[in-house]
Amino acid sequence: MAIERTLSIIKPNAVAKNVIGQILSRFETADLRIVAARMLHMSREQASAFYAVHQGKPFFDELVEFMSSGPVLVTVLEGEDAVAKNREIMGATNPANAAPGTIRADFADSLTENAVHGSDSSETAAVEIAFFFPEGVCPRTR
Ligand code: PPS
Repeated sequence: MAIERTLSIIKPNAVAKNVIGQILSRFETADLRIVAARMLHMSREQASAFYAVHQGKPFFDELVEFMSSGPVLVTVLEGEDAVAKNREIMGATNPANAAPGTIRADFADSLTENAVHGSDSSETAAVEIAFFFPEGVCPRTR
């Protein structure tokens, strides 16, 4: 299986709960390597731009409001099948449907405040990584 990279965001509700370390540890336990990290508090404009693909959907305003409500930790995860593996560890978007032991089952508060974001394909990951790390990410970390 190919080594790939994916973008992860630890969302404001999880940062507020002080569980950044616990979430990062789950990535590492699953053999995903943190190859870039950036903590920031997004403006409404930044959050709107990041979620532009969802513009016009009924949940868009609430999502932007939430994602700009406090600091987030953005990381790039690298590993075999990183996109799918990260989505498995995260659990379903709606925490009511998230499998036990997944990040969302353990740390999400609602469909909007669902603790983490993960890219949905390697193509999306490339766009999302460039959004937060326009200067690029180390090509090799080991
Ligand atoms: S969709 O409907 O297929 O476009 O939704 P999806 O790609 O699964 O996720 C869209 C992101 O919006 C967040 N969000 C919601 N999704 C669906 N319904 C409601 N009500 C909603 N509120 C917020 C959802 O958590 C996804 O965020 P990210 O950060 O991409 O995981």
